[in-house]
Amino acid sequence: MNKNIQIAVVGSGYVGLVAAVCFAEMGHDVICVDNDERKVTALQGGDTLIHENYLPELLERYRNSKVRFMTDLAEATRECQAIFIAVGTPQSETGDADLSYVEAVACEIARSLTSYKVIVEKSTVPVYTNEWISRAMERNGVARHLFDVVSNPEFLREGTAVADFLHPDRIVVGADSDRAAAVLNAIYAPLTSGEYYKRSDAIPGACNVSEPPPLLLTSTKSAEIIKHASNAFLALKISFINAVSNLCEATSANVEQVARGMGLDSRIGPKFLRPGIGYGGSCFPKDVAAFRSVAEQLGIDFSLLTEVEKINAQQKRRFLSKVRSALWTLRGKRIGVLGLAFKGETDDIRESPAIELVQMLLAEGCLIAAFDPAAIKRTEQILPAGPSLKYVGDSYAAADDADALLILTDWSEFGALDLKRLNQALRYPIVVDGRNLYDPQIMAEHGFTYLSIGRPTANPVRELASVASMHS
Ligand code: UDX
Repeated sequence: MNKNIQIAVVGSGYVGLVAAVCFAEMGHDVICVDNDERKVTALQGGDTLIHENYLPELLERYRNSKVRFMTDLAEATRECQAIFIAVGTPQSETGDADLSYVEAVACEIARSLTSYKVIVEKSTVPVYTNEWISRAMERNGVARHLFDVVSNPEFLREGTAVADFLHPDRIVVGADSDRAAAVLNAIYAPLTSGEYYKRSDAIPGACNVSEPPPLLLTSTKSAEIIKHASNAFLALKISFINAVSNLCEATSANVEQVARGMGLDSRIGPKFLRPGIGYGGSCFPKDVAAFRSVAEQLGIDFSLLTEVEKINAQQKRRFLSKVRSALWTLRGKRIGVLGLAFKGETDDIRESPAIELVQMLLAEGCLIAAFDPAAIKRTEQILPAGPSLKYVGDSYAAADDADALLILTDWSEFGALDLKRLNQALRYPIVVDGRNLYDPQIMAEHGFTYLSIGRPTANPVRELASVASMHS
């Protein structure tokens, strides 16, 4: 098979855009299609649209050459062998994934299809979607031998999406025909053969020539379930450690020690055992709800997932109680907020627990000064600045004259603040850390009252010393 494959990627969101530039980086010719003309023009002109490591470099390298942006899906369908659908699958009111964009794309592909194509689901979709796509194609008059539908779920994390794409733990290909499997094998060959990692300009990451990523070939339905089950399992791991952190708080144990002790068991593993203010983002909340809904529709009791969601929602309310326990009353209190994005190193605020907490604090009558290194612009669109909320230019400005400082997002720069300067900026040296970015002992030594998740509260060493001298 030809090494260089013509690929269309439909949708230029986080998954589509990253997939498009990474396929080009692997040597293929890519057309990235989006029906939003403004987005296409911006991408053609060199705008990266999202904050993602290595994306600007790769776009610069391939824009308007190996990656072309256009609105015309019909043309892309005619030119390409494989068409990856990476459009949004938002959550509907019942928790199901809304597949209307996927359906619309399938119908449009059907109208311009004249020779064999592999249609690849890249968006996260519920099991059976491949069958729906096939049915939509056939209803639009496409003969069954002219296409195959494949599931090739994406496991990339925002912020590290490019490196995750090019250095995956595994590549999952769900294909029910050898012909389609061969096309996907050829697309990923630069990674699975290790060839890509020989290049001196390869994006660095975990894989290398001697340890290339495995490609797991499954049935289409299995691949669809692998994606939902993986995300639901990771969310479960987070809710589990959050529940354990509450137990640690109630017993004055330290959740970090507990997580380390658990994580050293190779069957459990150390990852995704960081307690916090709950998971957010565009995937976990939506995918857990969609997986729960799929189970319900199939008559399967998977109420474990309802508990995962419940613990996640509680975690935010518990954090608010923690802030209250540090400040007594909340009305009129000046609060510095560090972090608006749903996690560090991204500007994405979708389902961000940080934003939910800001809204809760505003509802309690707090006055907020918020800082985020990348997400302020997006946050302003849904939470405009006003008398109770201002956006500031750095962490120290957020802390300035505040009754307490809250850490809500795990940006690495929030874990490396000048503690002396921070203490001087605050009206009261109180830090409530929803991400456990600091060592409580060090915070105490720097004069802070420091509350974190699942660890004993640290009180300023200075204060303790003066209390001791009062009693002597
Ligand atoms: C996730 C999956 O990791 C990825 O495989 C999938 O393709 C898309 O969804 P992403 O949403 O980018 O990726 O973020 P991730 O780094 O997984 O974090 C998700 C949420 O969980 C964040 O809000 C994060 O702060 C939280 N989290 C993560 C924890 O609270 N504790 C942890 O230990 C890990």
